[in-house]
This record gives sequence, C-alpha cells and structure tokens, in this order.
Amino acid sequence: MDANFPAASPLHVAVIMDGNGRWAAARNLPRSLGHREGVKAVRRIVECAPDLGVGVLTLFAFSVDNWRRPRHEVGVIMELMAEYLRSETDRCVEEGVRVTVLGCTQGIAPALQAAVREAQARTAHGKTLWLRVAFNYSSRDAILSAAARFRRDRDRSRAAFSRLLAQNGEHIAPDVDLLIRTGGEKRLSDFLLWEAAYAELHFTDVMWPEFGAEDLKCALNDFRGRERRFGTVGRAAVGANEAVPAGALAWLE
Ligand code: IPE
Ligand code: IPE
Ligand code: MG
Repeated sequence: MDANFPAASPLHVAVIMDGNGRWAAARNLPRSLGHREGVKAVRRIVECAPDLGVGVLTLFAFSVDNWRRPRHEVGVIMELMAEYLRSETDRCVEEGVRVTVLGCTQGIAPALQAAVREAQARTAHGKTLWLRVAFNYSSRDAILSAAARFRRDRDRSRAAFSRLLAQNGEHIAPDVDLLIRTGGEKRLSDFLLWEAAYAELHFTDVMWPEFGAEDLKCALNDFRGRERRFGTVGRAAVGANEAVPAGALAWLE
C-alpha cells in the first residue's frame, strides 16, 4: 500500500472506458467527437468517485494496441490527453486528487510527457482520490518487464512482483476490487491482468460518453451485493463439510 493512503485498503475501481466511437457513429459524428465527449465523462466520474467511496480509480485511456488505429484518431487522443492534464491539474490540486500515469512513454510526444510529469508532480500530495490513467498501456508488456526484473529479486513473493509491476516502486495500488467496462463488450483487452485477479466484473451497455454518477453508483451497488470469496467457501457453505458422509472423499487419499 502507498504511504499516502490510510492503512485500510481504499476501494479500487478500474474502468475500461469503451464506446466513444460507437457513441459518435450513432449520431453521425466523427469518432474524434466521441473521444471529446469521453473526456467530459472522465471529469464527471473523477468528481463523484470520492463521494461514492472510491479511493483509487484507474482509467484505461489508450492501449498500446490502439496505435493500430488511423493516424488522425491517435493524434486526437494524444491531444485530448494533453489538454485534459493541462486543464484539470489545478482542479485536481484543489480537490486533493493525485494523478499518476501508467504506461510506456515511448512514442509519446515530449510535450505530452512534460504535461504528465507536471501533473504528477503538482498533484503528488493529493489524498482524496488517487487517479491512475493508463495511457499507452499494455498489461502484458508491464508483466513482461516486471518479470525480467523479478529474476534478479531475492523476494519471490506475489507482493514483491506487484511492487515491480507498479512502475514506480513507491506507488503500489491495492488490487482492483471492481472492474467496469462500458460499451457492451465483455473482454479485458490487456488491462490490469495481474492486478484484477480477484476483481468483480461489471459490464454495461452504456457507452462511455454517457456514463455518469448514476451509472457508477449502480456498478458499486452491484459490487456491494457480491460475495467475494478469494478461493474459500462462501458464507452459506461454512460448516457444510461436516455433512459429507464418512468415506465419501476416500478417492482423494
Ligand atoms: C474507447 O472507445 C476509447 C479508446 C480506446 C481510446 P473506442 O474508441 O474504442 O470506441 P468504440 O469501441 O469504437 O465504440
Ligand atoms: C480498450 O478498448 C482500450 C481502451 C479503452 C483504452 P478497445 O476498444 O481498444 O478494445 P478492443 O479492441 O475492442 O478489444
Ligand atoms: Mg472500443
């Protein structure tokens, strides 16, 4: 856990913000406008997340595989990211939102890299919400790179691997509790594959540009109604083993 956050693990919600393009296409608008509306949804969610009990929010904004999209679309997403960081950093500082960006800096314009560094530095003391933006991110790449370093590590625990996976050793987020994907698809698309090992999954047909506080509330209500087991038996099953007749498990021996 990160020293900036209280000992009890904050609720970690991760979101695959999908559906910008389809939202725009359904309105005969260019995909770039879908991405622009998507940024408004990011603002809404960052604003309401702390009041809904979210302590860590990881948003998937651009994947390494998204470079395969048309050049113009990639350019628009890069621009929007820089614009978001420049326009929101003051507000994040005021509201205690710490911003960190996960992902590879390779291929990212120097101006955007500078905007990332500035946002991270200026918001570093925020304690209300930890906003992690996955940009130019691939979970498999992150795992590969951590695995290469892990070979040299004396500590072979899962915790040690998680530390290596967090690119900057000081910033280790708790595992994901709830993973939301908007836009109707039911896949992970190379997002937080290690960190979401026991995450509850919530898929919604709502397109990201339309996602708002009520949708997040609905996902959290769904999450709070789930029974997380982490491999143990469920609450209802505790004591049920006594009911197994003698000899019934003989084949196990
Ligand atoms: C998600 O929306 C945003 C990014 C991947 C950058 P999409 O652009 O994937 O929207 P759809 O899936 O085409 O509707
Ligand atoms: C995942 O969405 C990446 C982001 C939301 C940034 P995609 O739209 O790129 O995923 P696929 O291609 O449908 O799996
Ligand atoms: Mg998509």
